[in-house]
Formats: sequence, structure tokens, C-alpha cells
Amino acid sequence: MIIALASLKGGAGKTTLAVHLAHAIALSKKRVLLADADPQSSASDWAAARSDKPPFPVVGIARNTLHRDLPELLENYDHCVIDTPPRVSALARSAILASDLVLIPCQPSSYDIWAAAETVQLVEEARGFKPDLKAAFLINRRIVNSAIGREVEEALKDYPFPMLKTAIAQRVAFAEASSGYTVLETEPNGTAAKEIKQLAKEVLKLMGVKTW
Ligand SMILES: Nc1ncnc2c1ncn2[C@@H]1O[C@H](COP(=O)(O)OP(=O)(O)O)[C@@H](O)[C@H]1O
Ligand SMILES: [Mg+2]
Repeated sequence: MIIALASLKGGAGKTTLAVHLAHAIALSKKRVLLADADPQSSASDWAAARSDKPPFPVVGIARNTLHRDLPELLENYDHCVIDTPPRVSALARSAILASDLVLIPCQPSSYDIWAAAETVQLVEEARGFKPDLKAAFLINRRIVNSAIGREVEEALKDYPFPMLKTAIAQRVAFAEASSGYTVLETEPNGTAAKEIKQLAKEVLKLMGVKTW
């Protein structure tokens, strides 16, 4: 399965969530590749910041032919997570087109969801070529102990994609993960790790797959 984290908004959490989702999949003993399709190479920097080998390989593949090149690259992998760039570009289109599922991370406010219109449009365009392409919103940076408001659900109604039930909270542990580790290793029994495992489980279910 190929999952892209896509949003034209910088800072939405694409890289953070791509790295964490890849790690959650790797923990179930599946071979997962993190394809870094952002020319800013944050995911590659994440891997390079570690003093040991990352729990899954990260390859830089920021080229517009990604959707054509990826199948061969994935011959020895079960799954792939793609971190995508924050601009409307041939590269962003290629990364979306390469995917089975596009997750759009978004802060839990109507403004942020409305601002996702451009990202939604990119996915819709890709669906013209690939009708089976699935997409969902993924709420990131939820304030702990706050509910996802009704206005967020209202704002989502204009889009043809669902919102995942799992929301990722605003947590220091996620911010600290940019130094090359994930919450699954820094706080394996913590609430942040629980959220990520829940996310991985929900993605599996959404895609109709039994195990990673
Ligand atoms: N759930 C979260 N809790 C706390 N900090 C977060 C969370 N998600 C992302 N961040 C922080 O927000 C910043 C932007 O996230 P990043 O994953 O780099 O976004 P993007 O790749 O979409 O630009 C980073 O400093 C990251 O550590
Ligand atoms: Mg990024």
C-alpha cells in the first residue's frame, strides 16, 4: 500500500506524520519505505539526525516521474509512505498519483479545512486518472482535552473526503521527534504512541487490509 501525506500548507504535519506512520508499519515487521518527495528533504534530514540506523529506509525521490518510478523501487517492500512538498507542482501531482491513499493533515479549525481546498483539488485531479484513489483528512495538533468541534465537521461537508476518527494531538513528544526519533521509541507506552498506533490501525481498516 502506498500512502501519501499531502497538504499544500507548510507546517501541517506531513513530515512528522509520515515518519510516525512509517514507523508504526515497520513495527509490525513489514518492509516499509519512506519516500521523501519534498525537495526540502526534511524526512531525509530526520533520518540523518539519528546516531543509529532508522527503523525503516528513507530515500530521497523528489522527481516528477515518481509515479512511474516508484513501482520498481518498491519491489522489495510491502508498503510505502510518501512525504510530499508544500507546493502545487508536478512533483506534488506525481506523488499523489503514485498513491493508494492520500492523507491530508489539517489543524482542527474551519479555516484550516477551507484552506485545504487546493490540496483537495489536486487529489480530485489525480482521481481523473486514478478513480480508485482514496483520500481522508487527518486532524493534527488537536488541543488536548478539546473535542473536534461541530464547525470542523461542517467545513468538511463541502469536500468529498471523510475525516479519520483518529486525531493527533498537539504534543511536545511530536515536536521533539524532529531530532531524528519517533514517539514510538522515545515514549513507546505514552499517549502519543497510542495515537499513532491507532492511526495505523484506522488506515488499515479504511483500506480494507487485515494486517500491515
Ligand atoms: N502533533 C504535533 N504536536 C506538536 N508539534 C507538531 C505536531 N505535528 C507537527 N508538529 C511540529 O510542527 C512543525 C511542522 O511539522 P512538519 O511535520 O514539519 O509539517 P510539514 O511537513 O507539513 O511542513 C514541526 O516543528 C513539527 O515538529
Ligand atoms: Mg515537511
